[in-house]
This record gives sequence, C-alpha cells and structure tokens, in this order.
Amino acid sequence: MYLLSSEQLAHLLDKSALGNSCLPLIEGQILDIGAGCGSITDRYLAFLRQEHLPNGSSTQVFATEVSRNMVRVLRRKPGYEVFLTGSIAEHHCPPVWGDVAKLGLISCLNVLDRCLQPWTLLSDIRRLSLKHSCCPILIGVVLPFSQFLEAHVKHGSNASCWKWQCSKAMPERITYPGVGSHLLSFEKHAGSFARFVLKKAGLRVARFARVPYISAGDAVSPLYVLTTAIYVVQPTTDEELGEMDRVKVGKVQDNSAKGH
Ligand SMILES: C[S@@+](CC[C@H](N)C(=O)[O-])C[C@H]1O[C@@H](n2cnc3c(N)ncnc32)[C@H](O)[C@@H]1O
Repeated sequence: MYLLSSEQLAHLLDKSALGNSCLPLIEGQILDIGAGCGSITDRYLAFLRQEHLPNGSSTQVFATEVSRNMVRVLRRKPGYEVFLTGSIAEHHCPPVWGDVAKLGLISCLNVLDRCLQPWTLLSDIRRLSLKHSCCPILIGVVLPFSQFLEAHVKHGSNASCWKWQCSKAMPERITYPGVGSHLLSFEKHAGSFARFVLKKAGLRVARFARVPYISAGDAVSPLYVLTTAIYVVQPTTDEELGEMDRVKVGKVQDNSAKGH
C-alpha cells in the first residue's frame, strides 16, 4: 500500500505552512481509524514528538480495525494500542476519551467508503477532536466516492467483531449530487465531498491534496492505482454550528419576507 510520502505528510501537517524545513505539528498520540496493516500509520510515527506524549505512556498510536487479521498484524507493532471495533465512541474505545490520552492527530484514510456507519463515525471524530483541543484530522477518500461494504463488515464473520453490531446498526449512506459518477472531474467530486459531507458533518477543510493510492494488483495489472483526496480538517465548534444555523434560518426568513 502506498498513499503519501513522508514529505507530503510533513507538508500537509506543517503548522506554519512555511515549507518542509519546519517541524510538523503532531504533539501527542495518534488515533488511526481503520489502520489496515499499519503501513501508513508507521509513517506518522516519524512526525511524533515523543516529548509531548503523556507522562509515562508507551502508547504512541491508537488504532482501530474491524478485521481480526489486521488487528493481529497491528498488535505485533511496538507502541500500538489496537481496538477490534468499528466505532470510536466512548464505550468502544475508552482510552482515547480518557483524561490521560493526548491526541495530536486523528486519521481516517480510505475507510468512510468501507464502513457501515460513516456519518456516525464522522460525528464521533468531530467530538473527539473537540475534546483534544481541536487536534487536526486527516480524512482520505477515493474519488469518485463509492460505498462498498466488504463481506466481513456487511454480514459479520469470524474475521470481524462486527457480527453483533450488524443486528443492531443500520447502514448509513453518503450521497450527494453526482456521487460515484465517472463523468464528473476529480475537482468536482472533491468539492462536492467537502461541501455535502465534511461541512455537513461539522468539519472545516484547512488543506487538501490529491494523491495516488497504490496497492498490489493481480496477474493482469500488477498495480492498482486509485486517486485519493486527502483533507486536513478541523472541527467546527458547537457555537459556530449554532451561528451557521442562525444565519441559514435568517436567510430563509429574509427570503420569505421578500416574497410577501
Ligand atoms: C481500504 S482499507 C484502508 C487501510 C488504511 N487506512 C489505508 O489507507 O491504507 C479500509 C480498512 O478499514 C477497515 N474498516 C472498515 N470499516 C471500519 C470501521 N468502521 N472502523 C475501523 N476500521 C474499519 C477495513 O477492515 C479495512 O482494513
């Protein structure tokens, strides 16, 4: 799996945006949601300022996965605390909500189109970032956006912890004008995703990149290359959301007043 070079990550996460000579900003621990085999997670560690880890903590990375096989791989890595779960809500992932953890980055790369409840996940990501002083969030999505649930997520199986959850949880659909269409440009999709998904979830885009997502292919195509949109986002506070709602309502009232 290849998504981002260390230089690209440094550039995206650089606090001062003054080029790659500046140190990136990750101060604290990292939560990587749907970390897969951890090949991208490992790259984050290069940016972690160890002195900003909570006192005495050996955990550098919290990772979540619904695949038991991936969890097994991740648990072999030093400094990783891994959760077999499809949710980051308080009762599924208690340590990241506790007062001891100090998150400096939340990452969710190429997961929203593969998970059962992407809206719930986005909402929990926003709440968690707010709890950790609005730490930055890295969201990656392959565009055109197209939801696909792998069998172990959809039906639950021994390969996942998701069996029990499927009986209770309703799948959530992300949709917006033109979703999945190969007739629209990447830019159009990237804009729509930001507007109809991220903004709606209370996340504000700070930076953006277009990167290739390369994985091992088959006998015919030795490599699969997809295009991923990477967004660095920050949570809109509850006050800002309230203000935006008031403006919207104000506009509607204004327009209806004009109509009369
Ligand atoms: C396409 S892979 C991406 C892996 C890695 N983040 C990357 O960018 O290479 C999607 C991963 O998300 C996992 N996944 C799906 N739904 C999830 C959820 N709700 N929470 C955590 N992991 C999930 C899948 O098991 C799979 O390993």
